[in-house]
Amino acid sequence: MNKSIVTAVLVLFCCGLRAQSLNVERPGSGSIPSLKEVFRDDFLIGAALNMSEVEERDPAVSALIASQFNTLTPENNMKAAFLHPGWDRYDFVQADEVVGFAMRHHMKVNGHCLIWHSQLPAYMRGMQDADSVRRYFTDHITTVAGRYDGKVYSWDVVNEALNEDGTLRKSIFQRSLGDNYIVEAFRLAQKAAPHTQLYYNDYNIERGSKREGAVALVKKIQAAGVRIDGVGIQGHWSAGRVPLEDIEKSIQEFAALGVKVMFTELDLSVLPSPRGHGGADVSDRAAYEDQLNPYVNGLPDSVQAVLAQSYAQLFGLFMKYRDKIGRVTFWGVDDGQSWLNGFPVRGRTNYPLLFDRQLRPKPAFYKVIGTAERAGVM
Ligand code: XIL
Repeated sequence: MNKSIVTAVLVLFCCGLRAQSLNVERPGSGSIPSLKEVFRDDFLIGAALNMSEVEERDPAVSALIASQFNTLTPENNMKAAFLHPGWDRYDFVQADEVVGFAMRHHMKVNGHCLIWHSQLPAYMRGMQDADSVRRYFTDHITTVAGRYDGKVYSWDVVNEALNEDGTLRKSIFQRSLGDNYIVEAFRLAQKAAPHTQLYYNDYNIERGSKREGAVALVKKIQAAGVRIDGVGIQGHWSAGRVPLEDIEKSIQEFAALGVKVMFTELDLSVLPSPRGHGGADVSDRAAYEDQLNPYVNGLPDSVQAVLAQSYAQLFGLFMKYRDKIGRVTFWGVDDGQSWLNGFPVRGRTNYPLLFDRQLRPKPAFYKVIGTAERAGVM
């Protein structure tokens, strides 16, 4: 056989192997590409998991998660209300299960989250005594970050500390400990978890004054000589209205600070927003109205196409900046268990993710895969 034929045969063989490794079998549905494989050289691909997923109650869901994602964020079970239910009492059972799931499936864990004004334990809500807040703050970070050092890859050390105008939210921590509490949180986390990546995480920080506030916050932490490894942009946006220009600017500005940029809670709502709503403050609530819930019997093709197009634009941007982006995590696996069916209006039927209620990949999934192909990855 002459040399060029041998080379051609080898190339074809290797391409075949590569293509094979990018496609995974999922029970009940032929083979589909794998997000984590397709973006393997670009960024981590994650999903937020609830306890039913972590406890592997449905083997089809487990198989889908293991084949598509290489990192997970517990949707709720590492939040303080779950981990630290009594003043002197921690309950690590579920958080340990999260770590166990990740080990079984060779996934990284992003711990979410150490310091946040929401989903606090009952005894902390409305706590006025500054000394008690300080004791809680120090003990919580030291105990939790210390226990999981080396077991989780990263922590969202502080979540949602900024107001929309870029000033600091007057949270229980800000009121009791002063503006410096964020630097202190990172300092304590750094000490307790020297092997763990440490992130600041928030929604709408891609925009205007809130972005400026986030940049200032990172600079303040760095100026204090404290480690911060990344910024997480949550990414709760709406299909057809993704703020691409702001997102691009924020990737550039955060990356220029020398930290990794992450998209940590990605989902694109297809439902109308109730008047005055625009963010991901979990305490926001709006009353149910039928016109806010138009797709109870399925998503029309035209809306499906808008969703797919928005995801394609977003991942096109992520690929352009793949050297600056550490991870892209979806806030859920399939549409059926997305928090957006209940937020900010209870009882709606939303379609914000890449897999439908039967775990089938949606047109948006293939568009996302296509952005990697166009960038020449496959
Ligand atoms: C949400 C969960 O998805 C819900 O199950 C829970 O009831 C409320 O919190 N920003 C965050 C996440 O940082 O922790 C929130 O998760 C969504 C908004």
